[in-house]
Amino acid sequence: MNINDYTNYMSSETLMGPNSARVLEELFKKYPLQLEKDDTVLDLGCGKGLTSLVIAKETGAKVYANDLWISAEENAGRFEDWGVGEQITPVCEDANDLSFDKGQFQALVSIDSYHYFAGKVGFFDNKILPFLDDKAVVLIGIPGIKDEYAGHSEELLSDWLGEEAYMFKSPREWKEIIGDHSRIEKVEAWEMECFENAWSEWFATNHKYACGDKQHFETIIKPYTCFVGIFVKLK
Ligand SMILES: C[S@@+](CC[C@H](N)C(=O)[O-])C[C@H]1O[C@@H](n2cnc3c(N)ncnc32)[C@H](O)[C@@H]1O
Repeated sequence: MNINDYTNYMSSETLMGPNSARVLEELFKKYPLQLEKDDTVLDLGCGKGLTSLVIAKETGAKVYANDLWISAEENAGRFEDWGVGEQITPVCEDANDLSFDKGQFQALVSIDSYHYFAGKVGFFDNKILPFLDDKAVVLIGIPGIKDEYAGHSEELLSDWLGEEAYMFKSPREWKEIIGDHSRIEKVEAWEMECFENAWSEWFATNHKYACGDKQHFETIIKPYTCFVGIFVKLK
């Protein structure tokens, strides 16, 4: 993947936080998805669909772009404008209550959203695993706290995040939360390298939320937080 192919799509209109295309680029470099055109990928918490576009273009597979806050109609309009309306199906469902077919997806991607709904042991087994095909791959990139500060999110991050601080967990904590299951072959969680680029590209949009985040970057975001990459491979 060459991120420059997507520069025209990265803007204050499509970004909802640190550059999701940048985060996806690192995940794809580390764990390239090898999919056929009839395979299906779930982009869970896709926001305004930038990552869905990248997944569709880079893999050639069919993409289900699911989000809660952004309507399927709004995303459908963008996908039509971007010329990928045939390849990407927009859906608006709560990740706690998805209605896809069992075993439907060969891959699941989730950027900057999984921490909103999946931070409890058992969520992956009960709410995600049923929809994944055998040998499916999961790629997740989310903001979190560095391993050395695990367990201290509320104390360290509340001035920036308020009541959402508890959602920030460390790579080691996420590996434990996803846990073990007889269908899981491997889980890896690590601190991603794209942290500084993803944040600075968000600040460059001058979005009003980006300006708010920027005020906390040197004192809270940079010293205590990271981007957590998570890779899961099924048997
Ligand atoms: C910060 S935005 C990121 C969006 C996009 N992935 C990106 O990186 O630009 C977080 C997204 O998580 C989604 N989200 C939060 N809770 C959700 C839930 N329970 N089910 C589905 N999506 C959810 C929201 O709809 C929102 O678009």
